[in-house]
Amino acid sequence: MFKTILVAVDGSGHASKAVRCAADIAKTYGATLILMAVDGHRPLKGPLEELSRSEDLSRSEVFDRILSSAKALASVPKDVKVEQRVGHGDPADEILAEAGRSGADLIVVGSRGLGEYAELLLGSVSRKVLHLAKVPVLVAHD
Ligand SMILES: Nc1ncnc2c1ncn2[C@@H]1O[C@H](COP(=O)(O)OP(=O)(O)O)[C@@H](O)[C@H]1O
Ligand SMILES: [Mg+2]
Repeated sequence: MFKTILVAVDGSGHASKAVRCAADIAKTYGATLILMAVDGHRPLKGPLEELSRSEDLSRSEVFDRILSSAKALASVPKDVKVEQRVGHGDPADEILAEAGRSGADLIVVGSRGLGEYAELLLGSVSRKVLHLAKVPVLVAHD
């Protein structure tokens, strides 16, 4: 059923849950897994700012690190193809554009990310993806 699964990662625990769900589905269906992180060109905050400072990483190295951690977490067997993308711009727009380009038939996001409005059930990125996607969206709660 699913051939190409796009999972959006921002370094949050919810996104880690999204990766584990997406990897499991990719294994089950023999689908390609695309891991995507978007640099929204905002100042790095929280754990990302901390990572950049403590390991003296550039912005692009921080986004590469988000993707390599996600890949390690996915831990899929060798026959499951894993691709990585870094987008630049509005995260939801970039995720939706990548879904179109890659022909993804499932998008997986976390319910929340690194944002700080803890009372909201869905973050703005997951909400926008859910509203505008042309394919099924799985929302993972940590
Ligand atoms: N910059 C980003 N790059 C890729 N995926 C993202 C990005 N920001 C958010 N996401 C995805 O959207 C989910 C929800 O995050 P978001 O809507 O930003 O909530 P919050 O407001 O809590 O940060 C994340 O778990 C992740 O899957
Ligand atoms: Mg966010």
